[in-house]
Amino acid sequence: MSQPTLESILQENRLFPPPPAFAQQARITPERYEQLCREAERDPLGFWERLAREELHWFKPWQQVLQWDPPQAQWFVGGQLNLSYNCLDRHLENGRRHKTALIWEGEPGDIRTLTYEQLHQEVCRFANGLKALGIQTGDRVGIYMPMIPEAAMAMLACARIGAAHTVVFGGFSAEALKDRLRDAEAKAVITADGGWRKDAIVPLKPQVDLALAEGVPSVEKVLVVQRTGQAVEMTPGRDIWWHELAPTVSEDCPAQPMDAEAMLFILYTSGTTGKPKGVVHTTGGYNLYAHITCQWIFDLQEEDIYWCTADVGWITGHSYIVYGPLSNGATVFMYEGAPRPSKPDCFWELIARHRISIFYTAPTAIRAFMKSGDALPRQHDLSSLRLLGTVGEPINPEAWIWYHTVIGNERCPIVDTWWQTETGGIMISPLPGVTATKPGSATRPFPGIQADVVDLEGDPAPAGGYLVIRQPWPGMMRTVYKDPQRFRASYWEKIPPKDGQYFYFAGDGAHRDEDGYFWVMGRVDDVISVAGHRLGTMELESALVSHPAVAEAAVVGRPDELKGEAIVAFVILSDGQEGSESLRQELMQHVVTEIGAIARPSEIRFTDALPKTRSGKIMRRLLRNLAAGSGISGDTSTLEDRGVLERLRQEV
Ligand code: WT7
Repeated sequence: MSQPTLESILQENRLFPPPPAFAQQARITPERYEQLCREAERDPLGFWERLAREELHWFKPWQQVLQWDPPQAQWFVGGQLNLSYNCLDRHLENGRRHKTALIWEGEPGDIRTLTYEQLHQEVCRFANGLKALGIQTGDRVGIYMPMIPEAAMAMLACARIGAAHTVVFGGFSAEALKDRLRDAEAKAVITADGGWRKDAIVPLKPQVDLALAEGVPSVEKVLVVQRTGQAVEMTPGRDIWWHELAPTVSEDCPAQPMDAEAMLFILYTSGTTGKPKGVVHTTGGYNLYAHITCQWIFDLQEEDIYWCTADVGWITGHSYIVYGPLSNGATVFMYEGAPRPSKPDCFWELIARHRISIFYTAPTAIRAFMKSGDALPRQHDLSSLRLLGTVGEPINPEAWIWYHTVIGNERCPIVDTWWQTETGGIMISPLPGVTATKPGSATRPFPGIQADVVDLEGDPAPAGGYLVIRQPWPGMMRTVYKDPQRFRASYWEKIPPKDGQYFYFAGDGAHRDEDGYFWVMGRVDDVISVAGHRLGTMELESALVSHPAVAEAAVVGRPDELKGEAIVAFVILSDGQEGSESLRQELMQHVVTEIGAIARPSEIRFTDALPKTRSGKIMRRLLRNLAAGSGISGDTSTLEDRGVLERLRQEV
């Protein structure tokens, strides 16, 4: 673990109080906030229990709010509910039957709108379709989809029948898909022929075919949604078109009551070893946490039109495109594509066309927009916006100010939300009607969340240390799928428990300022964040060494103006290999094939040796310095062969 560094972010001290017009009508006012914090402090379990009772529908009440057998938490033990019921059925009876649930726009410009009643119907049909394919409660189902309404329907259909989904981002390669389907032992895969992205068709079904050709014995059926219409191969007996199955199944499918602790989904994320972790979330706690954070942090009001630009393949898409907003009965906007050379201003055009009021995106996107200038957003009517959000990586104050002035017209509060795949929902964030924001700070923990910055002994280290959570919360991950030992080791033992106090270790470095605000500095482990996407250095290295020309590889992140971090690989070639430009391109492509386009290295440097300690450990700190073009600083006394550094420096 490296020491968190403080110089990575300029401290920015300007304070932006909530705009008065916003604060006056906010769901959570300063008075309400005080009450909630007091309640959560006095009786944390009573706080979550009250919210679970008031905010969700339960088929059966729980016997125990929390069973905490560290690090194993169970929430609402004995209770039964269904997440798809909470996202759909209950809105049919509470006045939202004809309210728009989903507005979707495809890249070619096609638009679909579904009311809650219509979405409910589609999800019921989808759920019956899954049943017709033999999917049962407790099975796992892979979802590998473009950003089309059927992606959300597929997730909700799984939740409805109690099958756990594992959504694999459509940008991941066949190889990455295969690993995840295998680990999850998925019984079926839901996919599409392809999707539209940047004016081109991204083929998905062929990737599924490739993944399955390598052998994923658990997969029996592949359900294919037709989106792009190009010819795809269909394997008889295994592959079924959704448009052929749909008319044969009924639209009556009552939601299956599920135990609060029934597995809802697995989502794979990068860690410090080569193998992605299957993060497991369960039904009750996750539903409550996604619901309440979405409602308070985004100040959801009945007439809002809410847009989160993430992909459903990431946790942000799970919690803040699908489950959080729909559980609240909100109107969700979903977009298939991405800004592209032919339409660099498509986001602003969409905001104007659909009268988006809440907009949630990533710093990497904001920095890219900022670079292309103020003229594009200024050409569009952004007056419908009232709240802006960011997530995924630290936002530099400059980008924050641009977002605030050019997009928010200085009217819209910005919520900088810190959280992780593992936390299920937002943990540290302003509440927009309450918190005065500081550009670059995620400000304060959500009510009921006990975040802290500590040293390796668990003692408070506000000036710079490790970000931890001190108490269990409903949305927390329950385990690493099939690997409870890894769950324990990755999150609960890095900072050992003391006096019965357990520390959830997030993997981020942070500091707290004099107002108690949190400043997240980025990862302190071997995880790189490229455009807000997590990639493990080990994962990248094993992808590289799986190429026959590579003997050894070390990968580090280099600060990047747009992407936050860029991937730099140091590669030692196998005997007899020459480090040519064409080999460099081939290796870059190889990583894309192994993991996906998000993992393409920005730079590959060939070398004859790597800086190692006497015990053989690669000194990544030195490689990071080299990659960043900064001089070698810090201690090099443990370096085994000092000549290596000299040679590496000369090669640049
Ligand atoms: C990591 C989690 C959860 C949403 C998307 C990413 C970084 C996330 C912030 C923020 C600074 C942030 C952290 C964290 N991160 N949000 N507002 N400020 N850093 O999910 O892939 O699980 O990655 O993203 O490093 O540990 P994820």
